[in-house]
Amino acid sequence: MESYKRLLLNNKAFVQEKLNFREDYFERMVDEQHPDFLWIGCSDSRIPAEVVTGSEPGELFVHRNVANLVVHTDFNILSVLQYAVTVLKVHHIIVCGHYGCGGIKTALTRKDVGLINPWLRQVKDVYRVHEAELEAINDEKTRFDRLVELNVVEQVSHIAEISFVQKAWQNERRPTLHGWVYDLHTGLIKELTKIDPGSHPDDIYMYQFEDNV
Ligand code: CO
Repeated sequence: MESYKRLLLNNKAFVQEKLNFREDYFERMVDEQHPDFLWIGCSDSRIPAEVVTGSEPGELFVHRNVANLVVHTDFNILSVLQYAVTVLKVHHIIVCGHYGCGGIKTALTRKDVGLINPWLRQVKDVYRVHEAELEAINDEKTRFDRLVELNVVEQVSHIAEISFVQKAWQNERRPTLHGWVYDLHTGLIKELTKIDPGSHPDDIYMYQFEDNV
């Protein structure tokens, strides 16, 4: 059997399993979605958001890209973020990185990877900001792991710097921002950082909203 056919067969089994559990499993979600979480993760095939968090369809709004980056000029992630914050009104945004991330590993080298260079450049920027801490670590693997963690923390802070996120904080006291890291060896997620609604990023990133002055 060709490998892709297995996916279609599995889909049929999935449908049957869910219908056995609940006859209206699919129908009840047709008209709308009410996820409480936005998950921003790495595209890596080993960290499927729903699987590692035991979530069902309808629970997570998901965006994944190489090295789980929140880039202010990326219309793709900005659209996902704005829809999640202003329309779906999620209460939690989770950035989940992972140890052993190929994107982060490549960013640590001088390797020319073409189109991905400018994307991974964002990770090199994280390295530069934390150069002193990272270069004080002698063990290469420990330094790599630490950059994975620092990258997550930086990406979470990027979300706190977005105007519509600050507006939702001010008007609705949500969402809470979380930075997590997934361990491929154990399957466990570790919490790295949490930013509560109303926190104050650096002054230069704070917006003032006319309707609230
Ligand atoms: Co990765």
